[in-house]
Amino acid sequence: MSISIPEITLNDGLTLPVIGLGTYSLNGNAGANAITSAIDAGYRLIDTAYNYENEGTVGEAVRRSSIPREELRITSKLPGRYQAYDKAVTTIQESLYRANLDYYDLYLIHWPNPKQDKYVEAWQALLDAKKSGLIRSIGVCNFLPEHIERLEKETGTKPSINQIELHPFFNQEQQRIWHEENNITIESWSPLARASAVLRNETLGRIADYHNKTISQVILRWHYQLGAIPIPKSSSPERQLENISIFDFSLTETEMSMIAELTRPDGRINNQDPATYEEF
Ligand SMILES: NC(=O)c1ccc[n+]([C@@H]2O[C@H](COP(=O)([O-])OP(=O)(O)OC[C@H]3O[C@@H](n4cnc5c(N)ncnc54)[C@H](OP(=O)(O)O)[C@@H]3O)[C@@H](O)[C@H]2O)c1
Repeated sequence: MSISIPEITLNDGLTLPVIGLGTYSLNGNAGANAITSAIDAGYRLIDTAYNYENEGTVGEAVRRSSIPREELRITSKLPGRYQAYDKAVTTIQESLYRANLDYYDLYLIHWPNPKQDKYVEAWQALLDAKKSGLIRSIGVCNFLPEHIERLEKETGTKPSINQIELHPFFNQEQQRIWHEENNITIESWSPLARASAVLRNETLGRIADYHNKTISQVILRWHYQLGAIPIPKSSSPERQLENISIFDFSLTETEMSMIAELTRPDGRINNQDPATYEEF
C-alpha cells in the first residue's frame, strides 16, 4: 500500500511533501531496507545529515527504489566543525560523494553554534553550492530569529526551511508565528518527542480514540495542521505507514487547543537551547 502525500511550495519555489522520514540511526543494510520500505509506502522526503554517518545508506536506498530521482527530496546537513567557508565547500562535495548523488534537494546548516560565529560563512558556501547546482534549496536548523535576520542582512538571502525541535511538549508557538510572518517553512525534528511519555499522554489518547487513530497519528496530523513538516523516524514498515496515514481525518479547533495546552517551557527533550547549545 502506498499513500499519496500532499505537497507545499517553499519561498524559493521548491515543492516538498508535508511529511518526511527522519533517518537518525538508520545505518547500513538494515537502514537501507528501512528507507526503501518508507519510499515504497509513499515517503518522498528523506532527512539525513553528514553527522548521522548514513548519507551512503540514503543514497543506496535511492538507487534501490524505482521512484525517479526527481520525485524524491533528499536533505543533508553541514556539521558545526565545518562551518568555515572552504571547509563547508568541501563538506558539501563530500556529502554528495558519500551518497553518490549529483545534487541534494535541500542542504541545511545543522546548528548555528553562535559562539563560534561562522554560520554566515557557511551560509555563503551553501549559496555558492546552490548557484553551481549541487543543492536546489538551502536552509538551516535550530536557528533563532536573530541568526536568520543576520543571514538576511549580510547576504540578502533567507533560508527556505528552519528545522527545529517541535512536538506537543514543546510547541514553539512564538517561533511558529515569526516564521509564518517571514515566509520560512518549519520542519519539526523529533516530532514524536522520540516516542517518550508523549505517546502515553491521556489527552492525546482521548483524541486518538475519538478519531479511531493512534496517538502518533494525532500528533503528526497536529504538525500538519500547524503548517510544520514533521520528519518522524521509524525503522518499522508498519509504523512508517501508520505515520503517513493522516490525511483521512482532521482535528477540530478545540482539539488543537487541547494539544496546545500540553506545551511546557522546559519541554525540550535534551535541553538543547540553540542560544547556548553547540554541536560539532
Ligand atoms: N536538525 C536537528 O538538529 C535534528 C535533531 C534531532 C533529529 N533530527 C531529525 O529528525 C528525525 C526525527 O527525530 P527523532 O528520530 O529524534 O525522533 P522521533 O521521530 O520523534 O521519534 C523516533 C522514535 O519514535 C519511534 N516511533 C516512530 N513512529 C512510531 C509510532 N507510530 N508508534 C510508536 N513509536 C514510533 C521510533 O521507533 P521505531 O524506529 O522502532 O519505529 C523511534 O524510537 C531524526 O531521525 C533526524 O532525521 C534533526
